[in-house]
Amino acid sequence: MTIEEKYMQRCLQLAQNGLGTTYPNPLVGSVIVSENDEIIGEGWHLKSGEPHAEVNAVRDAEKKGYDEDAFAKATIYVNLEPCSHTGKTPPCASMIVQKDFKKVVVGTLDPHDKVAGKGVALLKEAGIEVVVGVLENECNELNKRFFTFHRKQRPYIILKWAETSDGFIAPKNKNEQKPVWITNAHSRQLSHQLRAQENAILVGARTVVDDNPSLTCRDWSGDHPIRVVLDSRNSITSDYQVMDAIAPTLKLTLSSSNILEIIDELYRNNIQSVIIEGGTTTIQSFIDAGSWDEAYQFMGTSILFHKGLKAPNLKGDYDIKTREIIDSDVLKIYRKK
Ligand SMILES: NC(=O)c1ccc[n+]([C@@H]2O[C@H](COP(=O)([O-])OP(=O)(O)OC[C@H]3O[C@@H](n4cnc5c(N)ncnc54)[C@H](OP(=O)(O)O)[C@@H]3O)[C@@H](O)[C@H]2O)c1
Repeated sequence: MTIEEKYMQRCLQLAQNGLGTTYPNPLVGSVIVSENDEIIGEGWHLKSGEPHAEVNAVRDAEKKGYDEDAFAKATIYVNLEPCSHTGKTPPCASMIVQKDFKKVVVGTLDPHDKVAGKGVALLKEAGIEVVVGVLENECNELNKRFFTFHRKQRPYIILKWAETSDGFIAPKNKNEQKPVWITNAHSRQLSHQLRAQENAILVGARTVVDDNPSLTCRDWSGDHPIRVVLDSRNSITSDYQVMDAIAPTLKLTLSSSNILEIIDELYRNNIQSVIIEGGTTTIQSFIDAGSWDEAYQFMGTSILFHKGLKAPNLKGDYDIKTREIIDSDVLKIYRKK
C-alpha cells in the first residue's frame, strides 16, 4: 500500500461514521497530513446541513494549533471531490484554496451535476497540486448509494428476507396480525442495523395487512428509514403502524405494477437507497425485472413451516459475497453482476 493509499484508507474509515445519517449527501472523510508525514487533522461528514468532512478536518487541526503556515506544507486527503457550489454550506474547494493547502488527494470525482470536476478545476486554477483516483474502487464502493442515484437515476436496491430451511417466508395460516419470527434476535437486530443504514424500506400492501409491521430501526440506533408501501388499491388506512408519526411514510398508489415506474417514483422522491423487505410477491417482482443490487437472505434453522408462502427465487447473474452464521441462523449476501 502506498502512502497515499494509506491515508485514503483512513478517509474511508472516517467517512463510514456517517453511514445512514448523511442522506441526501454522500459519505466523506478527510485527513490532513503534515510535511513530516503526521496526521494533524481528521474529520467526516455527519449530516446534511452540517459541515463537510474537509471543514471538520481543518477545524480539528486548528483546534490543535495548526494554521495556514502548516497547511501550506500539508496535504489534505478526501475520498470525494471537494464541492465547488454553495449549498447548505459554503464550497469546500474555496476553503481549501483559502487555507493555502500545498496538495489535495482525491479518491473519486463527484458525479453530482453541481460538482462533476468543477471542484478539482477550481483547486488546479489556484495552483494547488491535485491527485485524483487513489483507491478509486474502494471509494466508489463506499458511496455506492450516492453514485447509483446520480449516475443511474435510481436508488441502490437491496432485497432482504428471512426464510425457513424448508424455503418458506410465511406459514400457511396466521392467527394474529403480527410476524411469525423465523430468525433469532441477533439476526433481527442486524436487520434493524441495515434499516438504519439505508434511506428507505419498501413492502407490499399484503405484508402491512398480515403483519402490521412498524418498519423502524428500534433495536438499533440511528435514523429510521422512510417507509414505502406499494398499495395500488389504497387499502392501507391510518390505523396501521406504518402510518404512525415515528417516521415518514410514502404510500405508492400507482395503478401500474411496473417495477421501473415504481423505481422512478422512488427516484423522484430523492430516495438514494431502499431495502425491499417483502413479501415474496414484491421481492420477486424486483428480481424478475432484474432491478436489484444486493440481496440478504436470512435462513432460520429452528422452525419449519411445511406449507406456506414460498421464499423469493433469486435468479440472474450474481455472486455470493458473504456467508455468515449468526448463532443458528445463516445469512447469505448476494451481489448482482
Ligand atoms: N419472512 C420474511 O422475511 C417476510 C418479510 C415480509 C413479509 N413476509 C410475509 O409475506 C406475506 C405477504 O407477502 P405477499 O407476497 O403475499 O405480498 P406482499 O408482497 O407483501 O404484497 C403484495 C401486494 O403489494 C401490492 N403491489 C403493488 N405493486 C406491486 C408490485 N409491482 N409488485 C408486488 N406487489 C405490488 C399489491 O397489493 P395491491 O394490489 O393492494 O396494490 C400486492 O398484492 C405476509 O404474510 C408476511 O408475513 C415475510
